[in-house]
Amino acid sequence: MAYLQWSDNLSVHIKEIDDQHKVLIGMINTLHDAFLSKKGTEVHREIINGMVNYTNTHFTTEETYMKKFKYAGYQSHKMEHDLFVLKALELKGRMDKSGFVFTLEILNFLKEWLQNHILVTDKKYSKHFNANGLY
Ligand code: FEO
Repeated sequence: MAYLQWSDNLSVHIKEIDDQHKVLIGMINTLHDAFLSKKGTEVHREIINGMVNYTNTHFTTEETYMKKFKYAGYQSHKMEHDLFVLKALELKGRMDKSGFVFTLEILNFLKEWLQNHILVTDKKYSKHFNANGLY
């Protein structure tokens, strides 16, 4: 059984964005499995590259809608995205240079992101996006 299961309390009630968030949950589950099986280093590069790709696609999606719908929380939301990008690039740089990053460091970072960003910051735009016809 997966470490984290998708449930409605994780939803921002916009299908396209929920589908992208499920990708992040998949990364957390993959890392957790790797940690338990002590095969972390074999999946680190894949997950870190996935994080960088995630920032390119997912953050662009949210920020495009925020600008399109003139969302008042755009600037502060984008600042959180920019910090995630910096961390993902820092992890990638360390992985490229030394070939090693602790599994728990990546896992804890992604879990914190889920708790503090997706479940708090992302959920704040749901009503605004829905009111603009996006579901
Ligand atoms: Fe789903 Fe604002 O990241």
